[in-house]
Amino acid sequence: MLFDGLKPQAPDALLALIGMFAADPRADKIDLGVGVYRDETGVTPVFRAVKAAERTLVETQASKSYLGPEGDIRFTDLLKPIVFGAGFDHQSVVGVQTPGGTGALRLAAELIAAAKPGGKVWLGTPTWPNHPPTFAAAHLTLATYRYFDQASQTILFDEMLAALKGAEAGDVVLLHGCCHNPTGANLTAGQWREVAALAAGRGLIPLVDLAYQGLGDGLDEDAAGLRAVLEACEDVIVAFSCDKNFGLYRDRVGALYVRAKQAARAELVLSNMLALARPNWSMPPDHGAAVVRTILDDAALAADWRDELTSMRLRIAQVRQALAAGHPFLAPLAHQQGMFSLLPLSPEQVGTLRKDHAVYMAGSGRANLAGLTLKTVPQFIAALKTVV
Ligand code: LMR
Repeated sequence: MLFDGLKPQAPDALLALIGMFAADPRADKIDLGVGVYRDETGVTPVFRAVKAAERTLVETQASKSYLGPEGDIRFTDLLKPIVFGAGFDHQSVVGVQTPGGTGALRLAAELIAAAKPGGKVWLGTPTWPNHPPTFAAAHLTLATYRYFDQASQTILFDEMLAALKGAEAGDVVLLHGCCHNPTGANLTAGQWREVAALAAGRGLIPLVDLAYQGLGDGLDEDAAGLRAVLEACEDVIVAFSCDKNFGLYRDRVGALYVRAKQAARAELVLSNMLALARPNWSMPPDHGAAVVRTILDDAALAADWRDELTSMRLRIAQVRQALAAGHPFLAPLAHQQGMFSLLPLSPEQVGTLRKDHAVYMAGSGRANLAGLTLKTVPQFIAALKTVV
């Protein structure tokens, strides 16, 4: 029978934590697993601006008829100044709406494969665990550059550059735009410029995964690396996610952009993105993108969204400072950004934290620090002290 040929698959280790945490009856459990923001009461809130936009949509949306494989064009257009900067030549950028950042990455993978079957994509190690299977699904060739040393909590910049000097023209290099997942360790402005110059010099295509814009240093600041790359390189791919910075996780809101300096090439890319989207999801789900469009089209809602995003960013930074001050083991966290850090813990230590202290984090040692509050930081440090 057809299905007898299937091999059993382990559940996704990160997503499995959601169920394990929910099933844990301990009242003082702490969830540092999957990357969702939580406020100081432990809740993943719906943004005020999102609620307001949803009310507007309920009242005014006249039709739910199809929009086409590109999704909501006004949504992708309104995001452009946020992603690429207000003064950018937006005509050189083509974009389509995608189901979340993962949809953008998958469409990017298929676009690369359509242009060059089996083409090579360079991924840093470590990276988001869903990166390798997403590119492998399009039958691309995966290569790696070492990015971060977990034990010393340092970026291996020289190793990264040395590895990328072995890349060939037309290879794609995946870079985390900000708030590196899983390490929280980001390139400096000078390092971004060096990587950008190397990519430009060797004819490499940067693919910037921008899934946490606004949660590091601020919306513009978090796009500074991308903008350095755009300045140096002709063709750049951007996988963008609104899931975190609009708190729209389950609504799956993202976009794939390509900046191609030559207009004819941009048109070619767009026609291929649309053709590849069609047999995948045909048309992306509308609701979340309509919410983002409604917010960005309304100055008051957009300002409120920015305010709420700023308060989230500041709360995460505050938790990082409290952790770093609370134990020398956590000192590097003060200089990292975004939701995640990759603590130098073994899978056994992570297991003990879960079993004995109801602290849930990925087996790799990745902790979603946005799951902590100033109240739970001491409890987390006390648990940590039993294993380090
Ligand atoms: C994470 O890394 O926790 C998030 O990006 C959620 C996911 O899909 O893995």
